[in-house]
Amino acid sequence: MRVIAVASRKGGSGKTTLAGHLGVQAELDGAGPVALVDVDPQGSLAEWWNARSAPTPYFVHTAVSRLSDDIAELKTLGVELLVIDTPPALTSLIKDVIDVSDLVVIPTRPSPHDLRSIGATVELVEHLGKPLIFVLNGAAMRARITAEAVTVLSRHGTLAPTVVHQRVDFASSMIDGRTVMELPGKSRSAAEIAELWSYMRDRLAGNVSRRHFPIPGPLAAAGEADRVLRQEPV
Ligand SMILES: Nc1ncnc2c1ncn2[C@@H]1O[C@H](COP(=O)(O)OP(=O)(O)OP(=O)(O)O)[C@@H](O)[C@H]1O
Ligand SMILES: [Mg+2]
Repeated sequence: MRVIAVASRKGGSGKTTLAGHLGVQAELDGAGPVALVDVDPQGSLAEWWNARSAPTPYFVHTAVSRLSDDIAELKTLGVELLVIDTPPALTSLIKDVIDVSDLVVIPTRPSPHDLRSIGATVELVEHLGKPLIFVLNGAAMRARITAEAVTVLSRHGTLAPTVVHQRVDFASSMIDGRTVMELPGKSRSAAEIAELWSYMRDRLAGNVSRRHFPIPGPLAAAGEADRVLRQEPV
């Protein structure tokens, strides 16, 4: 069984959205049984799951203090993937979650506030010796700041090669416990999640070396990216 933690100190970066979407996509891809855990007192992932009519992925009610024991039990029950949603904080609770994880996914919006906040999360994950992947989430199409964020994140760790864009269906699908993949018809949002999951799957299987996002041509040298980060070195 592999364990993915979705973590970032920044509120609203897309942790819960990605935790739910990656869990469902993994299940659709045949990588299940998948189980979800919500250690955020806000309980957003749990509320989403309660609104859901599909029986999978499973949801596991647990506490961080019991997580190791519960993980051992889930393994014996045949669960293949555990996705853990975490609160926007950097507490000992987050440390305990990262400690039991195989991969830490850090969603980051392409905004200066999000970019400035990555340092502390990266430091903690690296201190614990865990692999991390940034996912650029909520990006506007063709916006310069997105390209700049790609540059910044690529310098500070591995960035998933799929950018998740800002689209209403990511929010609206979750109202009744679904995901963009479970809405009728094909969508670009669903294609992004499929692509993102397939990258994560390969990372979990160890099939991808530390691959960096291809930095877009002239923007690779954009001074703005450095300016953003200089305010809080990572
Ligand atoms: N790619 C996206 N497109 C449109 N809306 C999005 C996208 N990602 C997230 N959202 C919306 O942004 C808001 C914050 O997302 P989410 O709850 O997933 O963030 P979070 O990191 O879990 O927040 P918190 O730190 O409070 O736990 C939600 O309303 C969600 O529906
Ligand atoms: Mg959340």
